[in-house]
Amino acid sequence: MGSITVCPGGPLAGTVTVGGAKNSVLKLMAATLLAEGEYELTNVPGIVDVELMQELLAPLGVHSERAADDSHVLRMTSPADPGWVTPPELVRRMRASTAVLGPLLARCGRARLALPGGDDFGSRPIDLHIAGLEALGARFTIGADELDAVADDGLRAADIVLFFPSAGATENLIMAATLAKGTTTLDNAAREPEIVDLCHFLSAMGAQIEGVGSPTLIVHGAAPGELHGATHRVVPDRVEAATYLAAVGVAGGDIVVREARADHMEVLLRKLRTMGLSVAEAADGDGLRASGPAGPARLCSTDVATLPYPGVATDYKPLITAMLSVADGVGIVTENLFAGRFRYVDELVRMGADIRTDAHHAVVRGVARLTGTLVEASDIRAGAALVVAALAADGETVIDGVHHVDRGYEDLVGKLRILGADIVRRD
Ligand code: EPU
Repeated sequence: MGSITVCPGGPLAGTVTVGGAKNSVLKLMAATLLAEGEYELTNVPGIVDVELMQELLAPLGVHSERAADDSHVLRMTSPADPGWVTPPELVRRMRASTAVLGPLLARCGRARLALPGGDDFGSRPIDLHIAGLEALGARFTIGADELDAVADDGLRAADIVLFFPSAGATENLIMAATLAKGTTTLDNAAREPEIVDLCHFLSAMGAQIEGVGSPTLIVHGAAPGELHGATHRVVPDRVEAATYLAAVGVAGGDIVVREARADHMEVLLRKLRTMGLSVAEAADGDGLRASGPAGPARLCSTDVATLPYPGVATDYKPLITAMLSVADGVGIVTENLFAGRFRYVDELVRMGADIRTDAHHAVVRGVARLTGTLVEASDIRAGAALVVAALAADGETVIDGVHHVDRGYEDLVGKLRILGADIVRRD
């Protein structure tokens, strides 16, 4: 299972590089189901969710392996005739497995999928995916623990308005529309950098998509055989970048985060500056340089509400809550996306944080220092936030449940050690 031990240390210093985005690469891998051919993805992070996606795609006929000379290069081969029955045990382990639904329906006219699992932070319905795919002509039969989808005559274009800009539904519908007959309009679409990345990959495969990065996407369906293999570099992971910014916020110091993209994190960076972090583009233009308050100075509290992009992402929220735990003043955190995403708060409280939750709000009264103890990660971002909090704790903190962190971070411990943190991993 594994744990991470963090001991008090000095300010952070040095340079760290973020990897490719988990929430992009998993969808790019699913997109290879759309067309027979050879694919090469670069900047692929070494994380467990990529391995799970490889295992999920293998029985569908998509072969993938990391290049012998560069483990961040993933070569994939998509077959002429992919399977459409997905392995239920893998689908239940990973929420991102829903991303195969649109491609399978578009390519095979059929898909069978167990109802997906993933992180334990409340109900995560897929009604918007289903309604959109139905508008494109699919029919669904939904059982107790799996769904069957059929589009006997193939998908046909539609004008779709999403009730909420769901990232997953937007991705599924764009992919499905690339092979639907006619031109699909998708309104109120999500516009996260990972969705823009998916559109760029699909364009490299031969798809025609207009409005990329805007809430209105126009997808011109391609004929079967018109899409093909492609090469693509995965966009950098903005949540991993935010993790190192939060770390320097609580520990102090001066670091450079290579590959971090200011244009993908504008609202977050504004919040971090309000809290007393100094963040600017690195002098050579590659990444961000950030420094936290020095000596006895503390971060300043602020209020934060999570929103779809370009707002403050729900994935940043545990990191921000960890920072607010040791900031000067009171901050109110409002979760607008996943009502159950406050489980890590109990663990921060065990470390001495003063936090009250009420429905989807948390009131965080900053304390000067936390106290190290044994805590448990409940999901990927909760685990990262506990590591960040531990950098501001007196005594030793042991974080259990590290397998969650491994799903989304390649060597978080090694990278924080490069920055000078006193941190070790025990398996
Ligand atoms: N929603 C519905 N119906 C749907 C789809 C979504 O009601 O059919 C609701 C959800 O319940 C939630 C909101 O819409 O309240 C947002 O969900 P969204 O579909 O945007 O999220 P997702 O695609 O399921 C991805 C990331 C999450 C990230 C969210 C929000 C992946 C694999 N997951 O999830 O990342 O928090 O977008 O940005 O891309 C993580 O990386 O740790 C993680 C959980």
